[in-house]
Amino acid sequence: MRIVLVGPPGAGKGTQAKVVAERLGIPAISTGDIFRANVAAGTELGVEAKKYMDQGLLVPDEVTIGLIRDRLTEADASAGFLLDGFPRNVAQAEALETMLTGIEVKLDRVVELKVDNDEVVRRIAGRRLCRNDSGHIFHVDSKPPAVAGVCDVCGGELYQRDDDRESTVRERLRVYQDETAPIVGFYAERGLLASVEATGALDAVTARILTALEVN
Ligand code: AP5
Ligand code: ZN
Repeated sequence: MRIVLVGPPGAGKGTQAKVVAERLGIPAISTGDIFRANVAAGTELGVEAKKYMDQGLLVPDEVTIGLIRDRLTEADASAGFLLDGFPRNVAQAEALETMLTGIEVKLDRVVELKVDNDEVVRRIAGRRLCRNDSGHIFHVDSKPPAVAGVCDVCGGELYQRDDDRESTVRERLRVYQDETAPIVGFYAERGLLASVEATGALDAVTARILTALEVN
């Protein structure tokens, strides 16, 4: 299957992307994770991306679209994928459509994770990520690690993201409303949208996503 996950910061995209992609046997591709890995490695891409990420702004389209084009080619897009954090504006959605048309494949579903702003702020304030793999995601209340500050999966150190400061989170929410939310309508018009209530237990949200994908 070829799937896009969309939703505000802290909606649970990264958390659910890993579980759903594993269940379906497809790669989860996260632009945020790719940028963070490049920031940690100090690459040219990382230095450029960090300027925008620290302000809660989108990294320019020419950088992000090229990155996704490379990843989809590498992953063999026709075999399926789950995109987390891309597309993030209408220009990126149009670029993805053109890329997929070029290789004669189509998206199967776009899943929107719906969460209100108070819950987003609570989730982001308590989020902790693993230094070894930003796919290892915890929350001090709703998904605490067995030992505080230590990743259950690999023993790595847990940390708080630089862009999870309150002022940056407010800016990320504004950017979501202004730039990303319009892609929900873009995909609804194409008959691809499934909106899922993303509050409640992690497993319950996964089950709702799988139902929306008609694989439950
Ligand atoms: P990105 O990494 O994509 O950040 P985001 O969209 O703001 O989303 P988050 O990672 O904050 O949240 P999430 O929805 O993945 O939630 P999570 O699963 O962690 O992007 C970061 C930056 O990179 C952007 O600001 C931009 O600068 C740049 N960027 C990325 N893509 C780009 C693009 N396409 N174009 C341009 N720039 C781009 O969950 C959050 C917390 O909640 C966790 O602690 C988790 O344990 C907890 N949680 C999850 N589900 C539940 C639940 N059901 N109940 C209770 N707690 C839960
Ligand atoms: Zn880890």
